[in-house]
Formats: sequence, structure tokens, C-alpha cells
Amino acid sequence: MLASCVIFSVRVMSDVLAVNAVHLTKAYGPLTAVNDITVQVAQGEVYGVLGPNGAGKTTFLRMLFGLVRPDSGTLEVFGRSWQRHGVTSLSGVAGFIESPRFYPALSGRKNLRLLAGLDGGDATARIDEVLDVVGLTDRQQDKVRGYSFGMRQRLGVASALLRDPRLLVLDEPANGLDPAGIRDMRALVRRLADTGLTVLLSSHDMGEVEQICDNVTIMKSGSVVHHGTIAALRELAPEQAHRITTTDDGRAAELSRARGLAVTSVDDGLAVRGPQKEIDALVADVVDAGIALRGLTRGETPLEALFFMLTESAAAGPSAGVDTPAGARR
Ligand SMILES: Nc1ncnc2c1ncn2[C@@H]1O[C@H](COP(=O)(O)OP(=O)(O)O)[C@@H](O)[C@H]1O
Ligand SMILES: [Mg+2]
Repeated sequence: MLASCVIFSVRVMSDVLAVNAVHLTKAYGPLTAVNDITVQVAQGEVYGVLGPNGAGKTTFLRMLFGLVRPDSGTLEVFGRSWQRHGVTSLSGVAGFIESPRFYPALSGRKNLRLLAGLDGGDATARIDEVLDVVGLTDRQQDKVRGYSFGMRQRLGVASALLRDPRLLVLDEPANGLDPAGIRDMRALVRRLADTGLTVLLSSHDMGEVEQICDNVTIMKSGSVVHHGTIAALRELAPEQAHRITTTDDGRAAELSRARGLAVTSVDDGLAVRGPQKEIDALVADVVDAGIALRGLTRGETPLEALFFMLTESAAAGPSAGVDTPAGARR
């Protein structure tokens, strides 16, 4: 009897969603920044909210932090809602919105000490550990003024980790970083996820979300246009596009069509899309036809192409044949 109770309670715990946002809407005057979105994040996953600028990502994350009240809909974090539990609904949540801010004239460590003092509990005792996790141990005594943008972002993650959160919320953590900073930030998020931490991040970069997230919600103009796993997105994505430039693009286009490839004219040549083996064969066809091949490059990745298709089309709304939020989660 006792054993079955224990098993039951463990199951209930793990079934509680880290984030359960249902039909959330928030308008600023006439502008609906977030329009009836449902986002459900399971414990332990890395979840991406992806969308172009103005899609409503930050507004959604602000609601999650209790900085903005939804006009309608419900929002629970680990089963607690602002309406029923007040500020305690935010316990276990840490992160930053837009960019983290620090005192530039103080060292990274001093900044963390001040924040740990505000957080209380055992936050001060965690400073060494969080500096190590984000790779800033060697630079902890340097003034933040001298930190690169990427180091400040990582210090932002460190300050969130001081709270020993169960859910880490990061608003465009790689935005504005150079390639090395992006690589470090991605590796950091993955390392944190491997410890079992739930991570919810926003991004406007499909490649970033593809690399670090398990699940994604794609937003456009305040609405959700897609929910699902990265694997399911790959299934929906078009084939890889290539750009080719030749001395006779007209003839090369005919050869492309003859191989069943989709072909369009672009500024500097042709964009062809289709199976890799047909592209490879096209290159041989072009050369055999006595046409010189001046360039062959890969275009946007299939997932990037899908992202643009979903977020640049005229109508916002759930895409046909795509998982519903509930279907994606269960
Ligand atoms: N405080 C605000 N007052 C008025 N409009 C806002 C406010 N915050 C955001 N918006 C508008 O809401 C929309 C969504 O913004 P935001 O949530 O910041 O999108 P994202 O983070 O995806 O770029 C944008 O059109 C933005 O201009
Ligand atoms: Mg934003």
C-alpha cells in the first residue's frame, strides 16, 4: 500500500507541466501582442519559442515572470498560478528578459554577491559553483564593464542559477553574440538541460532552436503558427535548396526541371530544390551539356526555409496538418 502511494505521488509530480499556458492573450491598446496562445512545457525539456521580431515572444515571457498580467487565459508554472498562489507561483523560476543588467564598475563576482544577498537562502554559497558552470571563474574579479556581450549573457545565466531554479527562462540568450559566444551559450544551455533543469528560451533563429531545443512553438504576429518536436518539423520541411550559377542558366533550368527539381531564378543564378542525389546528377548534366558551372552553394537549411514559410506568409493561423498543442504534448 505504502509503495503504491509513493509511486503514485512520483508520477503525479512528473506529470505536472513546468509551464502550462492556455489561451493566453495580452493586448497593448489596439495591438494584440499575444493572441490566444497555448504553450505547454514538460519538466526537463528544452523548449523554444521561436518567431521573428514583434511576434510576441518577450510579452509571453513577461507574463511568465508575472511582469505583465494576461488579459485572458490561464498560466501555471509547476501547477501554480499567479491568480491562486500569488508570488509563490514564481518560486523555482529564474532567468532574464531581453538583456541582463549589472553594475559595470563592479566585478562579476561582486555583482553576483549583491544579487545573492537579495535572493537570500544559500545563494551566496552557490556563487563559486554558478561561476564555474557558466565558465566565468577566471574572469570573476574583472569589472563587468570589460566583459564581452557574451560574458554578460553568461553572467545573466549565472545570476539566474543562484536561485537554484527548476525552470530557467532565457529571452533570446544568443542575440547579439558573436559566433564563439553563440557556441558557448548553446553548450551552456545543453549542459544545464543535461542536469535535468527545464529551459524555456526564445529565439528568432531556427538554427539555434534546432540545435538546442526538444520542442518548439513558432509564433507570428502574436499567434501560434506551429507546435511540435524538432523531429516533426524536419518531416514538414522542404528539401535542401542549392544555388547554382552557370554560363547558361536558361539551359541549366531546363536540365533541372528534367530531373524533377523545383527551380526558380534568383539574383545571381538559379535556386534548385530537390533530393541531393538529383542535385548531384544535375551538376554532371550541366557539365555534360558543355555549360560551365561557376558556383554551387547551399541555400537556407530546410528548417530555415520552413520557418520563413510559416512566419512570412500573409495569414497567421495554425498551419494545416500540423500538430495541435495538445497533440504535440501528449
Ligand atoms: N509595453 C508595450 N507597449 C506597447 N506595445 C508593446 C509593448 N511591449 C511590446 N509591444 C508590442 O507587442 C508586440 C510584440 O512584442 P514582443 O513581445 O516584444 O515581441 P518579440 O519579443 O517577439 O520581438 C510588438 O508589436 C511590440 O511592439
Ligand atoms: Mg523580444
